[in-house]
Amino acid sequence: MPESARVGSAPPHRRPRKATTLDGELKVFAGSSNRALAERIAARLDQPLGSVRLEQFPDGEARVQINENVRGTDVFVIQSTSAPVDVNLMQLLIMIDALRRASAGRITAVIPYFGYARQEKKSSGREPITAKLVANLLEAAGASRVITLDLHAPAVQGFFDIPVDHLQASPLLAESLGRVASDDLVVVSPDAGGVARAYDFSQRLENSSLAVVFKDRMAPDEIQTLSVVGEVDGRTAVIVDDLISTGGTLAEGARALLERGAKAVFACATHGIFSGHALENLKRSGLSQAFVTDSVPVNSDSKACTITQVGTATLFAEAVRRVHNDESITAMFK
Ligand code: R5P
Repeated sequence: MPESARVGSAPPHRRPRKATTLDGELKVFAGSSNRALAERIAARLDQPLGSVRLEQFPDGEARVQINENVRGTDVFVIQSTSAPVDVNLMQLLIMIDALRRASAGRITAVIPYFGYARQEKKSSGREPITAKLVANLLEAAGASRVITLDLHAPAVQGFFDIPVDHLQASPLLAESLGRVASDDLVVVSPDAGGVARAYDFSQRLENSSLAVVFKDRMAPDEIQTLSVVGEVDGRTAVIVDDLISTGGTLAEGARALLERGAKAVFACATHGIFSGHALENLKRSGLSQAFVTDSVPVNSDSKACTITQVGTATLFAEAVRRVHNDESITAMFK
């Protein structure tokens, strides 16, 4: 079979894309999920945000109109797929489709918070792998590459057949934590699956040890601690996680650590989703302070709950600049 015929019959998300190096100018567009972060990223790149009309038809369908020429340009679309997750995801897909049909030279989806990443495997029969479905959808829409931050499971990168630049918030979070707590630290993974993340974080702090909370999730918003492994008595504990959703994991972890003699409990989590009664849960838990990034827009109530947001605009702007100039992203984390 000739090469062209085989390529032509491949499903859209498997079709080879244009080489990454291109000469076009850089343009940045924002979806509506986290406009404030997108504006900060664009400002650091010394770029205006591209003009795009984002609306909904009366029946709820998304409507997108790109208002400027993007032919041959290196386009970056900033959109967290945070709540409302499906609305924001669909808007991102439609923006990418519009840009592809407008002949953009390359389209990079910049997804500070990648929703659905927690559904990355089947935990029981007849479940979907929704993270893989989302990867397929982004490629089918026309994304040439993805820049994202602290995926729930790094293996989700492998769900894509396009390049994924996976940024880390741990240097920023560790620096912010260091301003308020630095002595006798024990870095705590709130579950067995997060040990590698906690270990990596502990390497960024001087003289810290490691502990693990073993938990069981009885229901989506109900967590029970089974045991804590590691020395926490008399130490300042720092729970490290990828995200805070209902706050159940963190609240239960903080209670378990305080019961076992921790002097204080802090938390560093990349994505502050704070769904449902998360903030009330955290207030009641005895947690001293939580650091999250601005990958998801801040909820004004969170300020009353000792939540500190750490900015990622400089991180994303630098990643966009490097991708545009074909420079190393790995070098940013050495
Ligand atoms: C779980 O594997 C994740 O890493 C988080 O610990 C979890 O998703 C946090 O969710 P919640 O705040 O609802 O307990």
